[in-house]
This record gives sequence, structure tokens and C-alpha cells, in this order.
Amino acid sequence: MRCPSGLRSLSLCFLASAASASVLHPRDPVPQGFVAAPYYPTPYGGWADDWAESYDKAVKLVSQMTLAEKINLTAGPCVGNTGSVPRLGFPQLCLQDGPLGVRTTDNITAFPAGITTGATFNKDLIYERGVALGEEFKGKGANFYLGPCVGPLGRKPRGGRNWEGFGTDPVLQAISAAQTIKGVQDQGVIAALKHLIGNEQELYRMYNPFQQAYNDRALHELYLWPFAEGVKAGVGSIMASYNAVNGSASSQNSYILNGLLKDELGFQGLVMTDWLAQISGVASALAGLDMSMPGDTIGNNVPLFGYSNWMYELTRSVLNGSVPVDRLNDMATRVVATWYQLGQDKDYPPPNFSSNTADREGPLYPGALFSPVGVVNEYVNVQADHKVVAKQVAQEAITLLKNNGSFLPISTSAPLFVFGTDAQADPKGINSCTDKSCNRGLLGMGWGSGSANYPYIDDPISSFKRKAKNVTYYATDSFPSVPEPTGDDVAVVFITSDSGENTYTVEGNHGDRDESGLKAWHNGDELVQKAAAKYSNVVVVVHTVGPIIVEPWIDLPSVKAVLIAHLPGQEAGDSLTEIIYGEAAPSGHLPYSIPVSENDYPDSLNLVATPLSQTQDTYSEGLYIDYRYFNKHNIKPRFAFGHGLSYASFSFSNATITRVTELSEVPPARPAKPKSPVASLNTTIPSASEAYFPDGLDRIWRYLYPWLPNGEADAAYKAGAGGDKNYPYPEGYSDQQKEDAPPAGGPSGGNPALWDVAYTVQVTVTNTAEQGTTGGKAVAQAYVQFPADARVDTPVIQLRDFAKTRAALAPGQSETLVLSLARRDVSVWDVARQNWVVPKPDGRYKVWIGQASDDLPVVCYSDSLECETGVEGGPSV
Ligand code: BGC
Repeated sequence: MRCPSGLRSLSLCFLASAASASVLHPRDPVPQGFVAAPYYPTPYGGWADDWAESYDKAVKLVSQMTLAEKINLTAGPCVGNTGSVPRLGFPQLCLQDGPLGVRTTDNITAFPAGITTGATFNKDLIYERGVALGEEFKGKGANFYLGPCVGPLGRKPRGGRNWEGFGTDPVLQAISAAQTIKGVQDQGVIAALKHLIGNEQELYRMYNPFQQAYNDRALHELYLWPFAEGVKAGVGSIMASYNAVNGSASSQNSYILNGLLKDELGFQGLVMTDWLAQISGVASALAGLDMSMPGDTIGNNVPLFGYSNWMYELTRSVLNGSVPVDRLNDMATRVVATWYQLGQDKDYPPPNFSSNTADREGPLYPGALFSPVGVVNEYVNVQADHKVVAKQVAQEAITLLKNNGSFLPISTSAPLFVFGTDAQADPKGINSCTDKSCNRGLLGMGWGSGSANYPYIDDPISSFKRKAKNVTYYATDSFPSVPEPTGDDVAVVFITSDSGENTYTVEGNHGDRDESGLKAWHNGDELVQKAAAKYSNVVVVVHTVGPIIVEPWIDLPSVKAVLIAHLPGQEAGDSLTEIIYGEAAPSGHLPYSIPVSENDYPDSLNLVATPLSQTQDTYSEGLYIDYRYFNKHNIKPRFAFGHGLSYASFSFSNATITRVTELSEVPPARPAKPKSPVASLNTTIPSASEAYFPDGLDRIWRYLYPWLPNGEADAAYKAGAGGDKNYPYPEGYSDQQKEDAPPAGGPSGGNPALWDVAYTVQVTVTNTAEQGTTGGKAVAQAYVQFPADARVDTPVIQLRDFAKTRAALAPGQSETLVLSLARRDVSVWDVARQNWVVPKPDGRYKVWIGQASDDLPVVCYSDSLECETGVEGGPSV
């Protein structure tokens, strides 16, 4: 494999090379009680029924591979590539960012970001976006879609990459990720759910000679939850995070990879590192890593010089006996089985684009200094009609926070005065900043590897001008001098808040919003205030990565309406103006709360940084993030999680609850673990000759190869065959496969009983607005409240399911929505028993239903199986 191509990767390479000779400092001790318990060995893959056929085929293929061929699978035109085994017809695999579109290329769709997608609360639409993404990745010949992103979960409001995921709630993240994975993988593309786990801020995320990465019930009930759902949805791969967890780097953390992911969640696919996150060779192999991306090292060697912790080094480690052959067998089989599982053995196209250059011809091996040149870009157009789904997501996400006196929708004849540079596409060019590392013009996505090139932007100002005649635009963020307004004039003010990945600093923000905080950028608050002082009708449109503080202007009488349009991608224009002019009603809901003040969050959700030591983050708020925290402490946010108004008004009636599965306190015993076919592969250390460089190979400098010079292969073999293993195995290391552990475990998602539907709730939603008003889609959100006498500390309410009406409901129309709760949804993670436990199976669980976490007029009871509607006051918080 080759060193990464593309500017972003190069900047990382540069960072590391600056201090290439240093050795990582010994880690600072973690705070007491934070232990990364050893968990060995790596459970073989191949024990889930739905993966059985793929494993059988994979084992057959891997059994014919040499040592070097197997190794070549574990670490080039994309942001990462694996090696191939041409002799057996196994191709190089192309791994490509990112969550909202095929990165660093052309003729694609720039879809709305994850946060926008979450705000739709529309499961079918989220799946459709996944389908379109999958079609585009396949069309470009990318084998992997490096997404969706659910880590960060959004714990820290300033966190730089929260917008890549779906919102600050494990269930919203989980359902949205699962729908995306299914959509993408139904096209045959392997999704990579990322980043496992705890990548909750950008500062100090990564090991390098200057900075070390920052460092359980909350783990299971919040952060692992979406990964469990992704595994259940069949995700083919998982990307480990940059940060450490409990003192052990995520990509070599045996507790996380071997224990939680591969045993408890029964994950059958492959685990890759984040880019350049691998900091050890043997240790990461033993801890359950299967693929090093992009394969180079960071730390004590220089990236781009052909050094690797694996490839030829992994060959050496297998020959000298440090890494058991069965671990390599399992790695290779996991890669090949995933390829079969997604059907990529049947006519999958090779990559037809380059991440490195937009020219038709370019270096075939961009990481190499001297590379043969060939055609690298075929400019394949993969857009089809995906702009339709992209626009629908952008539109269904638009969240109406306030609409005084039903000010919106307005007529196209209203004289319109539009303020703010965000209303127009970047005048210097829609892709003029690499990876969107500037906030200039329309903010349609955040910055970093999660961005993509815009093919075009439908910007709001062009859309307004297409729809209305009387439009004046002031392309400035400082309030200009304007003619004296008349009573009918409407001012629309566009403001933003941006964030991204730590590889770039934008206006003082190092990825996270460490400089701007939750304040609107570019003096946005002042722009709104001044517009509100002049005009009596102001509509504020916010493009933002996450919560912003709206207090400076939200209560001003002339601020009539506020729309959060999130990060809309390329379809920012009509998706918005159709809402403003009433061609469609808003139906988005906040995927996070908007507090009155940033001080309303607990201190532990601040960004942490201790530059001269390993930064520690103790998650001391436990389960209490976002609305879970505000409810516990009776803090009224300005807008609660799930809030979102419509032009319609919806009522809920005819609620019923049905018990589907009788619950016991502890789930039924997990199924026995079948023997994995990986166990049938030969585990004898192969002969050194399997690792010799092939005769006559034309070597490319700086290319990573799995082979060793003959003398080195012979010496390694001699050490291994002589039993001279002097590798310092970690404490708790074992090479004996565990049987039927842990109790919460099971194939593809954990103990299957956790997924049994416990209750379903049905409710009818009716649009009660006056005839003639714009119809709209309604969302029902279901929150669980644990029994008061359950004697476990649980958040007052927790989102467990949601549903959106299929159609926009015209006045008088109704639709019945069905929501369900699985056993897991009424369980807590019992730290002592290390299992999911229903604290009081016969107790009174309340299932609250409504349109926002603070607007829940329906409650159903799990014990009496009765429901009440029209309940005032909601759950007592
Ligand atoms: C990011 C990943 C991304 C990878 C490849 C890393 O810096 O954290 O999310 O997939 O780069 O570009």
C-alpha cells in the first residue's frame, strides 16, 4: 500500500515528520479507577449465521494465501487502499471519505451533513440518503464508505465534529446510523462506522510527539449504543478513534476491540485504525486491530518514507512467533469475508478517480516520490437524480424554532431585504478552501475529512430571486445603511456557526469551537439586532454545526421567526425558500437542546487541554448530557431537544400500548457460540520463503510491501521456530479462544434477546389547523421513563424511538404512527453483573410521546397497558 494522498493527509504527515526521531513519552497515569482491563485473545470472526456463507468462502480463499499475501490485506487513488492478492483474484480495496459524499472528487452530490439528516427524524428518508450515497461510492469504485459517524456522540457542545453525526442522543445516532448503513450497504458498499470510541473533542485527539491523545455505565448506555445498533444492522467495518480510552489507545485497546466489539457485540467484520492512529505493531494486532490505515507510521518514524508498523513488520512478527498465525488468519479472513458479505466479488468496479489530483493523468502511486504516470481520473458522473433526496433531507431538517403570530409563511410579493454573506455561495469559488477550511459564503458543511466538493450550490439568494421579484440583497455581515423600511418589508438575516476537524484552524477555532464558543460567527448577533432595530419583521436563518446561543435577539419583538437550516449541502436554496413561502411546512426537530447560556452545561462538558501531560477527560457527568442533564437539574433550555414547529398543528389521539415480549430481569442466556471456520486454518508458522521479495519485483520507493529481505525473513523464522519468543506480552494475555463469554454477548449486536420488541405503541396524529393552511409532516418522539421505584439512577426521560408521517397531512387528515421499545430500551447496564438488566420488569414504565422532549402530551403505562392523551405538564423533572 502507499502513503496517503490528498492534502489533508499530507498535512498530518508533515506534523509527524517534524519530530520523527522522538519516541513517545511513557503515558501519564490515568486517574484512579480508570482501567483498560486486558481482554485476550481476539475472538475469531465467523460465528454469526448471517455471515456463515461469507466466512466459508473467505476461509477457502485465505487458506490458499501465503504469509505475505495475507499481510498485504491488512494495510493507495483513495484516502486509503489495501494491498491485493492478484494470484487469487482479490483486488486492492479503496477506502474513501466521507459521511456526506465522495470526498476530493467531482461529479458527485454534496449531501446534507449528518446533523441535518438527524434533524429530519425521518427513518425512510435517512435510508434513501444512504442508498444514494452508496450508489455514488460504488459508481466511483470506492469499496468502503468511511461513515457514518456516531463518535463523537455530541457530548461536548463545542466539539468540532459533532455535525458529522446525527445529534446528541444515542438513539437518534443509532437509528440514523443503522438506516444509513443499510442504505449504503444495500448497494454493496462497505460502511465504516466511526470513530470507536470517545472522540468527543478535536483538541488533543491524537498521539504525536508534541501532544498525546486525551483520555461504565455511560459507555454502554450512551457511547457504545449506536455502535451496537450499527453492528446489528450488519455494518462491515468499524474505524477506531484517535484518542485513548482508560489509558490505552483505541486502536490497541483490547478491552474495546476484543472485548466489547468482537465478543460482546459479536462484530464479524473488520476493524481499521483512524488515519495514522496506529502506534504499535504487535500490540495492536493482539488487541484486535485488523487493518492499519493508511499503513504508514506516525511517531518514531517518518510517514511517506515507506515505514510501517505492519506490512513487512507484521510479516516479521508472525515469522518470529510474536503474533500468532491464527491472529493473522483471522485478520485476513475478516477482510475477505466482509468483501464477500457485501457481494464485492461480483463485478465491483475499480476506482475511477484520484484523491490526489483533478487532472486526467497523474502519478499512479502518489505517495511515492517517483511514480509511473497514467490515467487516474475518468470523471464519472455518479449524481443520477440524487439532488432530489439531498433537497428533501435539507428541507425536512429545517427546524422552525419560533413563529410569532404565524408570521411564516410569507407571500412572494412581500418586499424582501436579505442580509448576511451566508445567503450566497462563496464568491471566491464554491470549493476555494481545501476541505472547506474557511467559513466564507454559504455554510453548507463543516470542515475536514467529513467534507466533499460541491458540484454546484443552489444558494438561498438565487432561489429567492427566482421566486420573488422584489428582493434586495446586502452581501455583508455588518449592517449596512438601508432605506427607511415600510410596514410590509421583511428582513431575512443569515448567520452561521462553523467547526470541523483538527487538521485545520479556522478563525482561531482548532476544529472544536474553542474560539467562537456557541456564539454566532462574524458578529451575527449584532447583524440580527441591528436588522431587528430597523425592520419590524425579521426572519433569522441559521446555518450551524450545533447549538448556538440565541439570547441576544430571540425575544426581540421584531424577530418574528427563526429557522435552523443546519448544514444543507448543495441544496440550500429551494429547500429553504419553499418553506419561507409556504410551498412546504417545516418538519425538522432539534437534534440537540439550545440552552439559555453555555454556563448551563456541566463543567465536565468543556473542552479539556493540559498541553504538557496527557489530557484526561473523566466523563464525570456520567449519563447526564444535553437534555438528560438539563432535566435532572431543572434547567430550562431556551429550546429543548426535539423541538420544532410546523405551520400545521398536530394533535395526538387513540394511543394504545401492546406488550410483545414478557420481560425477565435478566435476558435469557445468550446462544452458545458456534465454532468459527477460522479455527480450521493452518496455524503453523509458515516457511521464511513465503516472506521473500519476489524475484525481479520492480520496487517503488516508499511503497509499503509485505515482504522482507531473505536474510531478515530467515532470522525471524529462526527465532520463531526456535520458540525464542521474547515479546513482552501484555498482562492478561492469552491465546486461548474464550467460549460463550461475555453473558451480554452474541452474534451481530450482542445477546439477541436484547433486541426483542418489548412494547409497541400506536398513536394517531391529526392536523387540526384551519382549512387552507399549509399541510405538514408530523413527528412523534417516544421517551421512556423508568419506574420511580426501580431504585436505579436513570435520566428522567430518554428517547427510545421516533416516527414521521409518510405524507404531509392536510388540515383534517390523520395518520397512525407505530413506535417500539426493545428489551434494551427498558434496561440499564449493570456494572457489577456486566449485563443488561430490566430493573423492575413488572414496574410502571412510562412511555411518553409527543413532538419534543418538553412537549409530551401522551403517556402509556407498561403495567396497566393503558394510555392517556392530553396530559399537561409532561413527566415530572
Ligand atoms: C479522520 C477520519 C477519516 C480519515 C481519512 C481522519 O483524520 O478522523 O474520519 O476517515 O482521516 O481521511
